[in-house]
Amino acid sequence: MGMPTGTHSPDAPAGTPPTSAEADAASGAPHSAPARVALVGVHGFGTHHLRNLARLQAAGALELVAVADPQPPAPGSVPASAQVFPGLDELLSATGALDLIIVATPIQTHAPLALAALDAGVDLYLEKPPVASLADFNRLCDAAASSGRSVQIGFQSLGSHALQGIADLLSAGTIGTLEGISATGRWVRDRAYYKRSRWAGKRSIGGVDVVDGVATNPLAHAVATALRIAGARTTADVSSVETELYRANDIESDDTSVIRIRTSTGLPITCALTICAAEAVEPYVTLHGSAGTAVFHYTEDRLTVTTASGTSEKTYGRDDLTENLLAHRSAGAPLISPLLDSGAFMLVLEAVRTAPLPAPIGDAYVRWEGEGEAAHAVVVDIEAALEQAGRRHLTFSELGLPWATSAPSACSVPAF
Ligand SMILES: NC(=O)c1ccc[n+]([C@@H]2O[C@H](COP(=O)([O-])OP(=O)(O)OC[C@H]3O[C@@H](n4cnc5c(N)ncnc54)[C@H](O)[C@@H]3O)[C@@H](O)[C@H]2O)c1
Repeated sequence: MGMPTGTHSPDAPAGTPPTSAEADAASGAPHSAPARVALVGVHGFGTHHLRNLARLQAAGALELVAVADPQPPAPGSVPASAQVFPGLDELLSATGALDLIIVATPIQTHAPLALAALDAGVDLYLEKPPVASLADFNRLCDAAASSGRSVQIGFQSLGSHALQGIADLLSAGTIGTLEGISATGRWVRDRAYYKRSRWAGKRSIGGVDVVDGVATNPLAHAVATALRIAGARTTADVSSVETELYRANDIESDDTSVIRIRTSTGLPITCALTICAAEAVEPYVTLHGSAGTAVFHYTEDRLTVTTASGTSEKTYGRDDLTENLLAHRSAGAPLISPLLDSGAFMLVLEAVRTAPLPAPIGDAYVRWEGEGEAAHAVVVDIEAALEQAGRRHLTFSELGLPWATSAPSACSVPAF
């Protein structure tokens, strides 16, 4: 996917001004001009991108030339180099020669914004989850292919160097044969979290898919990282997805779920996730081997390996996905999180999107801690339930938990 540096897609819209890399290529100059970048969505997670872009602009790697958001940026949050627009359409009609657009907006806006960016012939960094349905994912893949532009998806944990450490230990047989993978997420989200925006906790808004569930948004990295470790990248790498979705909060989507995936090589991956824990712990992916385990705390790039000879722990570095996309443009570096490699994740999202409504967890099994907007639901004994589900590859109902009333909802991939 993507074009070699300095080339322009023959399918790019007529009259598209040359990008800075193309201008360099035409003049025979090295590709040293800072990339011309626009950011769509400047509040929420967009503030993380603004900080990262300021760092990269100071290093001379890019210039933030424009931002778009219906809510104007906070004073001083955007560099003087950047023009401010209320939306991407206005930005595109007023800004020439863009190299890269970063989209960090609510999930339900990803598909139209991403398609507009590709239609303008610009490379794209799209926040996770890529889009809110498999049909939109397929449309986006087609648009990326016909535009010849590169698309990086914002699963930043995939930039962790620990993934190479894991590949090395698997090929060395350190933990024996890999028998299964689990992803465990125990976060805490209060009532204010679900009031911060109108799409929070929604499955859809006015018929438009949102799919803001625990596995598809807050703990999406747990799923994506487990899939990557299992070697499941594209839609062809997954044979089935089962979901069992619950909610303790008064929301439409799920907040406490088991997702059981089987890869096309037969490896089970069980993701047991909640944002209704008593205390937040950093999420982790566990590799269960015949001769040991490896536990990857992906937010901390920390890998703990336990075998008969003891336990060792190492913290790794991480590649930034925006820098990687710039290196892809200028020097052909392989993308760390290319669009097509979100295919396996999108099958999980599609299974969640099409699953029955999440089952409410009975009041007897939910405790509320804190006051008012800061109050958060705690599912009783959820910690042990998540641990068991992941280790034994069982859903909550299969574990016989008293509040787990749903049967797993299964999707085999040919049905998608
Ligand atoms: N990679 C990560 O670790 C990570 C972390 C948090 C959020 N995210 C993702 O970032 C995205 C944004 O999440 P958020 O919580 O910041 O959302 P948000 O609701 O806070 O919205 C972010 C910004 O987008 C703006 N916006 C909304 N519609 C727009 C449009 N059509 N055009 C331009 N701007 C628009 C909003 O005004 C807001 O300023 C989501 O996809 C989310 O999943 C990623």
